[in-house]
Amino acid sequence: MPRDQSAGGCVSVATDARPRIALIAAVDRQLGLGKDNTLVWHLPEDLRRFKQLTMGATLLMGRKTAESLGRALPGRTNLVLTRSGQVPYAGMQAVTSLQDALEQTNGERLWVIGGGEIYRLALPLADEIHLTRVDAEFDVDTWFPPIAKDEWQTVESEHYPAGAERKLGFSLITLRRVTN
Ligand SMILES: NC(=O)c1ccc[n+]([C@@H]2O[C@H](COP(=O)([O-])OP(=O)(O)OC[C@H]3O[C@@H](n4cnc5c(N)ncnc54)[C@H](OP(=O)(O)O)[C@@H]3O)[C@@H](O)[C@H]2O)c1
Repeated sequence: MPRDQSAGGCVSVATDARPRIALIAAVDRQLGLGKDNTLVWHLPEDLRRFKQLTMGATLLMGRKTAESLGRALPGRTNLVLTRSGQVPYAGMQAVTSLQDALEQTNGERLWVIGGGEIYRLALPLADEIHLTRVDAEFDVDTWFPPIAKDEWQTVESEHYPAGAERKLGFSLITLRRVTN
């Protein structure tokens, strides 16, 4: 059985029992995520989609992303991956590894909401990626990891062009892991 030990623990990834992990991110054309621990664009439609997809679910975020949120996200379980055992805000819960986070989900999907370090850690085990890709390039210091074309297929893609309704065009893209 293949194993991933990158989270400091040992996560089983048998193909018939792959953990249900979805990554959700907003990226620019170069897979840029943010700068100085903050987002660099404001896209209300992306925030609405994020809320709609994740409400009621268990979220996993890195400690830096947790700090950038300013509070726990309401209506969801907020798990924070950290080596410190400390969380920045009330309503968040520290976890020490991806395996630890998966054990908190009772078999439900785990939504990995960033940032760059946590996406890199979780991508090899993920089965779905929900991307909002903005039609621009920004000055960023954090990136989403490369998405191998032969491992992922686009199952949904909708483009929303810039215009009177919005300054910034974007696409909503759902990718699913290719299974053999
Ligand atoms: N565009 C988007 O959709 C999106 C989404 C989320 C975040 N972001 C952006 O991404 C940036 C933050 O990302 P980042 O990569 O700098 O930080 P991050 O992934 O949010 O957090 C990194 C922290 O996670 C903890 N960590 C990482 N690997 C770990 C492991 N194996 N075991 C235990 N703890 C571990 C460590 O916390 P400790 O130091 O406490 O141990 C580490 O400092 C910000 O700019 C934010 O705005 C963008």
